[in-house]
Amino acid sequence: MLLIHNLSEVATPEGSTARRGAEQGRVRRLRGAEVVCDDAGRIAFVGPPEDRLRRLGALPEAERLDGRGGTLIPGFVDPHTHLPWAGTREEEFVARLAGTTYQEIAAAGGGILSTVRSTRQAGEEELATLARRRMDRMLEWGTTTAEAKSGYGLSLEDELKQLRAIRHASENHPVDLVPTLLAAHEVPVEYRKERERYIDLICEEIVPAAAEQRLARFCDVFCEHGVFSAAESRRVLEAGVRHGLSPRLHADEFADSGGAELAASLGAFSADHLMAVSEAGIEALAGSGVIAILLPGTSFFLMKKQLAPARRLVAAGVPIALATDCNPGSSHTESMPMVVLLAVLQLGLSIEESLTAATLNAACSLGLGGEAGSIETGKRADLVLLDAPNVLHLVYHYGINPVAAVVKGGRVVRRAA
Ligand code: NIG
Ligand code: FE
Repeated sequence: MLLIHNLSEVATPEGSTARRGAEQGRVRRLRGAEVVCDDAGRIAFVGPPEDRLRRLGALPEAERLDGRGGTLIPGFVDPHTHLPWAGTREEEFVARLAGTTYQEIAAAGGGILSTVRSTRQAGEEELATLARRRMDRMLEWGTTTAEAKSGYGLSLEDELKQLRAIRHASENHPVDLVPTLLAAHEVPVEYRKERERYIDLICEEIVPAAAEQRLARFCDVFCEHGVFSAAESRRVLEAGVRHGLSPRLHADEFADSGGAELAASLGAFSADHLMAVSEAGIEALAGSGVIAILLPGTSFFLMKKQLAPARRLVAAGVPIALATDCNPGSSHTESMPMVVLLAVLQLGLSIEESLTAATLNAACSLGLGGEAGSIETGKRADLVLLDAPNVLHLVYHYGINPVAAVVKGGRVVRRAA
């Protein structure tokens, strides 16, 4: 049992389904509340100390986490990462700083294909070690659950190797990973002249193998002009569904590719990026149940003027989640506080809307809304203690790491020095 006391505030969205419209910004802020976690790692109590004393007693044998006047929020859920990669691309980054675009680099054989070359060369254990190092950093910045995609293998063996690395990395690490098959991230060089055959390979071999070996929960596609068309994406995602992998997709990142419409028509869990989503795309998402995962770190790191229309999405009633997109090319960060900062200062979301997006809605986009994403009794005790007098400081005090401690499944797994 764990008692978290001496808090100035507990700040959390509420519920187990995605919050949309005005509800996206509804955050419960409880001054001076305490939180008790039971031995099963669940939240057993949230409320004032007097109520806790009356209901549960003094709890003399409980472990204590002194909040030192800080703020408790739900652990961040990062629902879009490309975690298990090898190699780095700082030279490309420098080229981009000098004016070359991400697409020009990709067309010249760099970009995703460069990471495919280094990831194919790496062994499974090496990939797991690299992923774990990134997960240590995630935890340091308050992430307790993350999605992790393959997509730098682009062959049966190498995609499965990445997925096995994801499974290994999450064993014995406090950060929970939810695995996604992204074999349709790019067409590998050896299939450039017969892309149809690569899509056949994905649908007929890679998807069935990943599903049969229980290595993936979701299937994703990079639906984008010059990568996979909406029709090709549909083929891959439908193959996923036939094998029990739920769909989510990279949609309308650089150009309107009909990705949002496709997500809506498939009932996907999420449509991600949406920097170039059309009005029709927004309309299709509204009421479809699809969660829009925005990745402002990517727009920032690619120095894009065009940003995802967060305010229009909220106004249309589309629930928004936030993610890092953690990858070596377009967004090299593990930090959800950084993403929240950008969501507020660049996308125009409020701090409360962003908190919901980075916790409850992100959990819902992974099918985990009943388990994670809010501080309510019965949910898993995944919590972050901020060294801050209230939740507004999450953005107001920027460029620092605000995380004082992290609780995962009721255990204190990290304390800042
Ligand atoms: O989400 N858009 C496609 N995939 C990644 C980038 C991956 C890379 O550049 O290695 C993204 O931005
Ligand atoms: Fe991505």
